[in-house]
Amino acid sequence: MGLPLLALVCCALMAWQHCAAEAAKARHFKWEISNMFWSPDCEEKVVIGINGQFPGPTIRARAGDTIHVQLKNALHTEGVVIHWHGIRQIGTPWADGTAAISQCAINPEETFTYRFVVDKPGTYFYHGHYGMQRAAGLYGSLIVDVAEGKEEPFKYDGELNLLLSDWYHESIHTQMVALSSKPFRWIGEPQSLLINGRGQFNCSLAAAHTQGANQCAAAVNTQCAPVVFPVQPNKTYRLRVASTTSLASLNLAIGNHKLTVVEADGNYVDPFVVDDIDLYSGDSYSVLLTTDQDTSSNYWVSVGVRGRLPKTAPALAVLNYGPNRASKLPALAPPATPAWDDYDHSKAFTYRIRARAGTPPPPATADRRIELLNTQNKMDGHIKWSINNVSMVLPATPYLGSLKMGLKSTLAAARPAETFSRGYDVTLPPPNPNTTVGDNVYVLAHNTTVDVVLQNANALSRNVSEVHPWHLHGHDFWVLGYGDGAYRGDAADEARLNLRDPPLRNTAVIFPYGWTLLRFVADNPGVWAFHCHIEPHLHMGMGVIFAEAVDLVGKVPNEAVSCGATATALMAGAHM
Ligand code: C2O
Ligand code: CU
Repeated sequence: MGLPLLALVCCALMAWQHCAAEAAKARHFKWEISNMFWSPDCEEKVVIGINGQFPGPTIRARAGDTIHVQLKNALHTEGVVIHWHGIRQIGTPWADGTAAISQCAINPEETFTYRFVVDKPGTYFYHGHYGMQRAAGLYGSLIVDVAEGKEEPFKYDGELNLLLSDWYHESIHTQMVALSSKPFRWIGEPQSLLINGRGQFNCSLAAAHTQGANQCAAAVNTQCAPVVFPVQPNKTYRLRVASTTSLASLNLAIGNHKLTVVEADGNYVDPFVVDDIDLYSGDSYSVLLTTDQDTSSNYWVSVGVRGRLPKTAPALAVLNYGPNRASKLPALAPPATPAWDDYDHSKAFTYRIRARAGTPPPPATADRRIELLNTQNKMDGHIKWSINNVSMVLPATPYLGSLKMGLKSTLAAARPAETFSRGYDVTLPPPNPNTTVGDNVYVLAHNTTVDVVLQNANALSRNVSEVHPWHLHGHDFWVLGYGDGAYRGDAADEARLNLRDPPLRNTAVIFPYGWTLLRFVADNPGVWAFHCHIEPHLHMGMGVIFAEAVDLVGKVPNEAVSCGATATALMAGAHM
């Protein structure tokens, strides 16, 4: 509590801004990762937990603090890494926590220490980034408050945290085998949606409102008991909402309450008021809610599926207006989720997101444009997702170390394509569905401004085009615009771009059959993943790698390179 003495002395002597910087803290955490029995939706399964908890512990820090997580892998036979989603890792690319990209997976019984600065306030989360471990429950919240002495640009009286996820009853091992097998076996829709790791399978808390639904047995199991958010009347709350789903796109609404969106992915946005918000996997938002409704009632917080025909019941939590009892059933039925395929509703929401005044504007022009066509393909009887017709596979030796050491053999000689045929018809299945695998590594020169055009297309079956939320590591990007159909870069497309107040984000969606244009500055040397945040899609190859000014990366800690060809080179006396 309060500023350390040194900082107080410094405050007396120096300008307040300097003082705030001095107050930055080191925050130490000791984590052990293990498999454990847990009942996220009241059915007992195995999850990957941290220190015996699911979801993992919430990290709370202030902007400028340094986080130290000493992570011990206590899984029996699997490696593990943790990615700090939304944290740019400026100057610490080896702490990004991506297996085969930024570091070697941490072996069972081994320990790795993540040290990094959380430089920007906002709502973030962390998660496993090796195979599909995120979908096994390896995630938690990471919340960064403004630096000591600074203020948020909006006021609120209290805060509620909602980490949203989806949950499958099949193990991730079964899921990975299914997705990789020949013939392909689709894993289907998740069994449950979870709020802060809790859901209820095959029963509804709101059964009293819905004919024919099973009433949930009185919450005997605290692991899946409904989440209750206690609030007081006539106050304003900041809800921090993040989605770490494996597959599902979500919509969140709270009975009778409006939501004011103020933050997206750790960046302030121009506030706007909505009835509900969409969240794609990888998104985070802060919304303000004022408890100005009838105080004699509680209200449902409802989270439902968008973008895919929902086969998963909405997740419910209770907004508990004091002094009502938490167990008092809301008088109103839970708000209905908009129709899953009402993309106009989704677009209306997404297009309203603008940067708050004061957000750095994008450079007026780009030095390079990379166009990425997203297609679903076949390879030798397997189903893959491809980018410009190449499906990403990861190497045995992580890129950061191998590129830094100049072990060039780890990169294929052929550079990935920067564009795709203008004649490609995005409204039809691929005319030649055959694809290949490759590393999809784009080498970026320091400080270049890069435009990325993400082009969606028809999948293998006719009249199917899915939503894909793309997430960039190591950077925020400006979302310059969205459009329907094929991007042509003509005057009409140019007119759709917003260079005045585009939002800064780390995740952006491509709508079915549409395109999204992003701009970022390659000002953070490292090797960064850029991929669809849907776990099965990434597993099936939907991603690329940006190898950015690797010669300017500082000394990579040995523990990040102690595997594969970099371990051999280290033993032979190579220097990082
Ligand atoms: Cu949250 Cu590479 O992912
Ligand atoms: Cu995808």
